[in-house]
Amino acid sequence: MVSCSDVRRGASGVSTTQDAPGRAITHWRATRPDMIVPAMSEHVQIERTGAIVTIRMARPDKKNAITTDMYRGMTVAFSDATHDPGVRAIMLAGAGGSFTSGNDLRDFASAPPLDDDIPAFQFLREIAQCPKPIVAAVSGVAVGIGTTMLLHCDLVVADPATRFSLPFINLGLVPEGASSLILPRMIGHVKASELLMLGDMFDAVTAERCGIINRISAAGEADGVAMGWAEALAAKAPNALRATKALLKSETTGVLTRIREEGQRFAPQLHSEEFREALMAYTEKRAPRYT
Ligand code: COA
Repeated sequence: MVSCSDVRRGASGVSTTQDAPGRAITHWRATRPDMIVPAMSEHVQIERTGAIVTIRMARPDKKNAITTDMYRGMTVAFSDATHDPGVRAIMLAGAGGSFTSGNDLRDFASAPPLDDDIPAFQFLREIAQCPKPIVAAVSGVAVGIGTTMLLHCDLVVADPATRFSLPFINLGLVPEGASSLILPRMIGHVKASELLMLGDMFDAVTAERCGIINRISAAGEADGVAMGWAEALAAKAPNALRATKALLKSETTGVLTRIREEGQRFAPQLHSEEFREALMAYTEKRAPRYT
């Protein structure tokens, strides 16, 4: 990767805060990046701080809704970080107080894909196969793929006010990101059904109980906690850490197959009357009517 501008590196400091009643957490102030790396998309920021690459979704006026260009930029950024021997940890975050509101609905409506080989699914395959540790800092909203991508991260911290949801059914769509495989294994069939069949918003406490996130930070501190974890991971023995991740991931055998199977149902649904009606209802702020 090529640096486009050097930024003086700030000092990192350790501090302790309360992230829940009675629970103290140690975290590091986010270090300033050594360099800003040119990104393929204007709405994806890539920063390099020592051995850590931060990939940040940055379209705050749309709650970081992810466009095709953003998926492409993030896929390339993950691939670059994977292949750069100097990178030991990857941080995933959002700008402007949101993680992401999921796939850009206008993209879905204007250019619905015909098969599963689309940038969103390419991104999911990339993150699912990434051999290096991924830390996510979540705040604001984590909707749709904003939640399913967390299932492929290794450590996740969320701001207490974060709202999560897997609203595929409410859009006449099916789950993606292998969530239909990973969630039942993680939280059991009935809880996974609740999240994927009712599609309601859930809060950070529920996400923590389900094991979708590791920790709830103090308000506004998710980035700092995640950077602290990334720094800690970057200091570990890199080969042993990658081997540890590979061993942990062997539990999720079948993930790529499931991403493909989900995609084979997802793409036709985007062309369905159910999706058209759901999107119309969302736009018109009314309940959908299915015949
Ligand atoms: N695609 C495109 N635009 C989106 C978007 C998305 N997924 N999510 C939010 N936006 C836009 C809104 O249309 C709005 O744009 P506007 O200011 O031009 O009207 C802006 O982002 C702010 O969103 P708003 O709805 O006002 O914020 P909110 O805090 O009240 O609600 C959400 C946030 C995420 C709960 C709500 O925007 C939402 O439900 N979005 C759709 C999420 C979704 O279905 N994603 C796809 C999953 S597969």
